[in-house]
Amino acid sequence: MTVPIGVNLTTASAPPMAGRTTTPTAATAARTWTHRHLLDVDQLSRAELETCLDTASRLRSLRETGALRERPLIAGTTVGLAFYEASTRTRVSFELAARELGATVVDLSVAGSSVSKGESLADTLRTLERTGVTTVVLRHGASGAPYLAARSTGLRILNAGDGLHGHPTQALLDALTLRDALGGSLDGRRIAIIGDIAHSRVARSNLHALVRLGASLTLGGPPAWVSGFGAWPGVRVAGSLAETLEGADAVMTLRVQLERAAGGGVSSLRQYTASWGLTEERMHLARPGAPLLHPGPTNEGVELTAALASGPRSLIGRQVTNGVAVRMAVLSLLAA
Ligand code: NCD
Repeated sequence: MTVPIGVNLTTASAPPMAGRTTTPTAATAARTWTHRHLLDVDQLSRAELETCLDTASRLRSLRETGALRERPLIAGTTVGLAFYEASTRTRVSFELAARELGATVVDLSVAGSSVSKGESLADTLRTLERTGVTTVVLRHGASGAPYLAARSTGLRILNAGDGLHGHPTQALLDALTLRDALGGSLDGRRIAIIGDIAHSRVARSNLHALVRLGASLTLGGPPAWVSGFGAWPGVRVAGSLAETLEGADAVMTLRVQLERAAGGGVSSLRQYTASWGLTEERMHLARPGAPLLHPGPTNEGVELTAALASGPRSLIGRQVTNGVAVRMAVLSLLAA
């Protein structure tokens, strides 16, 4: 049986969000949430994005106090992890999130499954459904795969990254990390995103989420990786690293997606690092103390230095921790 999210969250005390005037209660959130799937963040209104972040923030506090163990929020749900592409942090944090909330978790290890015998995605997912799986967390190399899965099965589908299209929970955890670091709101904040925007599902989802939450974005990178994005509302494309960083309240840099043919956009990785690689010295071009984010995995020495990745500006560890909170929030909202 699934326990309504409001029962636990409204009775527990979580610290209020700094600088926020309206924080919908989790009970309201559960009542107003209408989505069966999370396919990308573009399906969510600003209020729904904020519901996800507020719920994540509360669940993070409850997890820290151990309160979640006493009243599992999605007990009776069976969550299947179907990762057709490599993943460490996303898979592990979905698994931990589902377990923290009392779900049963099955990991479809693709290499050892019937996928290796040629079974189609839809057939594999329908088989999981017949065994009693109710929700599938899907990562797939083909853009749009989660939409096909949602259409061809009765499962609830959570997109954990599809091709170069979207990565909604990454955008949500980035938004939560930024909101915490920037005093509780993204309204009017300037965020710089640097690198391989064109091949990045993280960037694409972040463009939707961060702009809808009130931020304006400046994108920087080699022309082949940023061209065309200036037409998005709230987004500007800069011509140099200095111009990208100028006035930025926070900076996000991305991994070069070599497995998605990104190598074609630059003459060499060395050249990319020379023009766009972040160092502590270059970070001084942003606002004083501007924090640094990276979705991981990082290629230290390419998009940023090792010192910067582990230095005081870095929120990379915080992003990973928030990944569990955001995935707990989404799993409980979808089950509500
Ligand atoms: C990202 C991904 O797989 O889309 N990683 C992640 O989920 N944390 C980014 C990347 O691979 O560069």
